This record gives sequence, structure tokens and C-alpha cells, in this order.
Amino acid sequence: MKKINLIAITIIFALILSSCESTQVAGEIGTNTAAQKPSSSASVDEPSPDAYGQGSVIVRPDDGRTVVGISMPDKLLERWNHDGIFLKEHFEKEGCEVVLKYANNLIDTQINDIRSMIDEGADLLVITAVDGAALSSILGKAKSQGIKIVAYDRLLMNSDAVDYYVSYDNYKVGVLQAEYIIAALGLKNSKDSKNIEFVTGDPVDNNARYFYQGAVDTLFPYLENGKLKVISNQQGFYDTSTAQWSSDIAQQRLQIILNSYYPENVRLDAVLCANDSTALGATRAIDSDYAGTNKVIVTGQDADVPNIYNIIEGKQSMTVFKALRDESVVAVALGLALLADDSPDGQLIANSGWNFDCTYNTTDYDNGSKVVPSFLLSPITITKDNLEKELFDTGYYSRNRAGLIYAVE
Ligand code: GAL
Repeated sequence: MKKINLIAITIIFALILSSCESTQVAGEIGTNTAAQKPSSSASVDEPSPDAYGQGSVIVRPDDGRTVVGISMPDKLLERWNHDGIFLKEHFEKEGCEVVLKYANNLIDTQINDIRSMIDEGADLLVITAVDGAALSSILGKAKSQGIKIVAYDRLLMNSDAVDYYVSYDNYKVGVLQAEYIIAALGLKNSKDSKNIEFVTGDPVDNNARYFYQGAVDTLFPYLENGKLKVISNQQGFYDTSTAQWSSDIAQQRLQIILNSYYPENVRLDAVLCANDSTALGATRAIDSDYAGTNKVIVTGQDADVPNIYNIIEGKQSMTVFKALRDESVVAVALGLALLADDSPDGQLIANSGWNFDCTYNTTDYDNGSKVVPSFLLSPITITKDNLEKELFDTGYYSRNRAGLIYAVE
């Protein structure tokens, strides 16, 4: 290439580069934080929250739109598909513009999703975190622009940018699963000991800890007095956890436990699974690798459709149902109040006319930066016996003409 051209091209290239950089900074809140200018791969690295002048809110021009950003963790786990649709349709019915995104269970993707919602002019963010502790920077950015934030189902940690938390009483989920096992194994009156294994949730999901604590607190007396034994000795939160709530990981772990600790003469009586995707993995492992012939008690949560079939067929014993439509109704009511610059309290429930239980809690949900005011709904136990009444007669689920079960959206 002729020397002269080379020089010319280099100069042109340098000019282009410098113009890109200036554009990027302008697009981001960081104009006055040149030192904090994000690197080219800044898609993930957010300047620290105080770079956004936590104290000061940047007033964005009112563009006449009401934009709600809904950030969901993953599409592979059945429930979030329903939550996303319930929330989107309900906010749209109320005249909001909705941006709904799924993060494939990836933290970086979720941070990018939320940033793009902020850049698209979101006035309210409704977020279910992949990792509750990984969002404090981007939440700080949202707060610095006066954006309201609702933590949906999973508490957002280490951030004072969170305005409200909506969820089910997740400690009670664990209690219901444990109470079912105590009753099903007749532990109160049984003379001989029973064997149990634990398949708990994703350790980065703040809810997983509540499920686990509710379950082990309730089973503790029996674990303590030896009526309930954990042959694998895997009982801790992390030992028994399942990354990404993955059915395959749950299946593989239980297969290893069954092959290592449950030869033919060792009986497994129960597997406490924290949710339905892990229960699917557990029932597959029992099908393929359990040498015993007794019916193993298996718990779950979420009433996912494949698990409803397994409960009808007796492969899974129970699931904990949380009516997602009701949870979204509370989140939308809260969101609309926040968009109206209101800061609702328990009165929201009193004035709501909702036909489901909901409590207002201002003491228990400390996210490490503040105690987040929370609205909590009440979960229920579903078994083969009450499934028709609680899921189908209520209209949460239905069957199509071919008799196939589906969740009503
Ligand atoms: C939890 C949620 C449960 C279950 C689980 C896996 O945070 O509360 O209902 O869905 O995630 O997605």
C-alpha cells in the first residue's frame, strides 16, 4: 500500500475512533465522570454506584411515555414465562409501554438488559434477579435517574435503590415441604428412623436460602433425634444446592448419591426438592438408579405442568403452588402507585379487594443496604387429592380438547 495512503488511512481511522469514544460517553450517564469512562467492552463493567452521584437524581425530560422494564431471569424455568406475560399484559392494559427481556440465567446479560431498559427511558423496573447480589451498580444507575424499582419474587441485595419487594412467603414454602414429609413418613409417631436426601436450589438465588431454612428448621427435631437420617451426610445449603435450578444437575447429583449410599438393602424414604425443575431431575434419578422398591416421597414447588402429570401419576408427591397471576397483580398495583409518585403501604392491600392473602412487611427483608418494604403472598400445598380443586376449579390451569394440561395465561 502506498505510504501516503497509509498515513491518510491512519489519520482517518484515528478520527473515527475518537468520535466513537465521545459518542459512547455521551450516551451513558458518565459524561461528567470521564475518569470512569467505561472501557470498550464496558457492556458489563459498570462504574461504582456513587459514580452516579447517588445523592443527586438526574431529572430526565418527561417524554410523555410511561415505560416499564421487566427483567426476568430465564425462559427455561417454566414459571418466568408466565410471570413475564402476566406482568406485561397487565401493565400494557394500564397504558404502559413494556420492555420485557429474559437473561438466559446470565448475570452479564441481565445487567445489559437493565441498562438498555434505562437507556430506552424506563420509568419503572420490575426485576427478578439471576443473582440478587450482582446488580447493585446498575440499580444505582437507575436510581440516579429517578427510576423506581420493584424486586419481583427474588430480593435485590446490597442496594438502597430498591423501592419495594413482592414475593411469596418463601420461608413458608420450605415449611410446607417439610411438614408434608413429616406427615407422609408419620415421623411424629414412628419408632424406626427414615432416610432423606436434600436437593436444594441455586445458591445465588436469594430465595433458595429461605426455602432451605424453612425446611431444615421444620425437620430439625427429627434430624436431631435421629428419626430422620441423611445417609449421604450432605445436609448443608451449599452441599445440597443445585446451580441454575438445573434438572440435569439435580439428576446427576442424586444418581451419584443413590449409587454411592443406597445399595439394595438401604431404603430411601424421601427427597426434599426445593422446586419442580429439581424434582424432575430427582424422579428421573430414582427411576434409573434407585435399587429399592418403595415409593419415595418427593417434594417440589411451582406446579410446573410436567410435575403436575408426575403428581397425578404418583411419581412426585406434592408441589407448593404460588399463583403467579396474583403475584403479578400485586406487583402491577405497586408499580402503578410508584409511577404516580405514591409510596404505598399496607393500605394498598386493604383498598385492593384482592381475593387472595397478602401481607405488608417492613421488618424482615433486609437486603444488606436497607429493610425493603415487602408485600408477601401465601403459598399452598398441592397433592393428588386437592389438585383439581386448587388448580383447575380455580381456573389457574385447564385442559385442552386433547386433555393436555396448560397454565391459563
Ligand atoms: C425461585 C422462585 C421459585 C422457583 C425458583 C426456580 O426464586 O421463587 O418459585 O421458580 O426460583 O425458578
